[in-house]
Amino acid sequence: MLDDLRAREYPLLDGLGHVYLDYTAGNLVPQTLLERHMQLLRDHLLGNPHSTNPASALATTFTEQTRLSVLDFFNADPDEFVVVFTANATQALKLVGEAYPFDASGEYLLTFDNHNSVNGIREYARARGCPTTYVPIVLPDMRVDETELREHLARGSRGGHRLFAYPAQSNFSGVQHPLDWIPLAQERGWHVLLDAAAFTPTNRLDLGRWKPDFVSQSFYKMFGYPTGVGCLIGRKTALARLRRPWFAGGTITVASVQGDKFYLAEGASAFEDGTPNYLALPAIEFGLQYLSEIGIDTIHTRVRCLTGWLIERLTPLCHADGAPLARLYGPRSDTRRGGTVTFNFYDREGRAIDHRDVEQRANAAGISLRTGCFCNPGGGEIALGITGSELSSCFHQPEHETHLTIEDFRLCIDGKSTGAVRVSLGLASNVADVDAFIDFAATFLR
Ligand SMILES: Cc1ncc(COP(=O)(O)O)c(C=O)c1O
Repeated sequence: MLDDLRAREYPLLDGLGHVYLDYTAGNLVPQTLLERHMQLLRDHLLGNPHSTNPASALATTFTEQTRLSVLDFFNADPDEFVVVFTANATQALKLVGEAYPFDASGEYLLTFDNHNSVNGIREYARARGCPTTYVPIVLPDMRVDETELREHLARGSRGGHRLFAYPAQSNFSGVQHPLDWIPLAQERGWHVLLDAAAFTPTNRLDLGRWKPDFVSQSFYKMFGYPTGVGCLIGRKTALARLRRPWFAGGTITVASVQGDKFYLAEGASAFEDGTPNYLALPAIEFGLQYLSEIGIDTIHTRVRCLTGWLIERLTPLCHADGAPLARLYGPRSDTRRGGTVTFNFYDREGRAIDHRDVEQRANAAGISLRTGCFCNPGGGEIALGITGSELSSCFHQPEHETHLTIEDFRLCIDGKSTGAVRVSLGLASNVADVDAFIDFAATFLR
């Protein structure tokens, strides 16, 4: 069924002979979604919401219908959860960071394994004198040291608000961190921010069962189209704790110039700054329907099998002396992991092959993969063995006070790799994609 779907919905893949292995960055655009969206725009007169005129009211109707469809897709109770539309997962995270009531008696706790858009929240915490703590991840699987996490979560509160943030799935290693940390942390007085951006494209997130306080994600990662729409799904009780640092068009009931006062709107409106992406929003409902029709569990199984197959074929590739070609950063099994596989290739002398060279050769071979640290520096530092003391002596050199190029950084860490190679599978991937990648990998043995 997925092979037929690939031929029908993604004709460019086989039409161009392109091997797309970058699903963690973005999904591909299915034909159906484009057609349904264009038809809707052709058939309806839509205007800027926030008015009662008919064109505006129709856009509002579609927006609210889309909001309900997101709740429904994630099995989230509308009495308990609110969907706030944002431009992407990053904006959803920023909404939480800038408004969370951090103070000196609170804490921001997060895993080493996080996207920079989650790491960046620490700057909001710092600005309010709130300490940040990182829980390490451990090689070779790059999972969190759970004993340390549990100890940390169990520590008594110093009276302030405490936020714990982690990704449901790593965009670096593909590790799926346990969702049962959500109640574990909440029972100990933490709010939980679950970054689901890399998880939701191929896994069921059941918010009837798991109830994080905040969930961030981008829709283009789930079904490829449209870009520019993400959401924050927040528990009403948690959203009520947030203190927005400003008001804007669309977020207030009343704001006054002479009275120097504003009153925030209720619910999602309080967080949706300015005009929402109202022409794109109806396509989100179509995208969710598209995934539901295929079946998120079917997609999950397909990606799990292909990932297992890829790892099973990549890890035995060896040089003549038996030294492995690839060093994997993440689990070697297909359990509790997603379809993101990250590694570096090593040559016959045991030297890492520069990830930029791998990328260039992949480009030339018509393979889209990604290299670098994928905006996940904690994952990169652990995978590549870059230590805290190396980093702080680098960052504290006077010439690096405000400026550091990637070349400076490379020198600082003594020529160690600064990045890795990432291939990621998704709903349109097939066995031929894996075979093509393995053939490509084997060329590094020559
Ligand atoms: C785990 C994770 N979180 C957050 C983001 C940020 O998503 P966006 O760039 O759509 O805001 C990404 C993007 O790759 C991601 O993989």
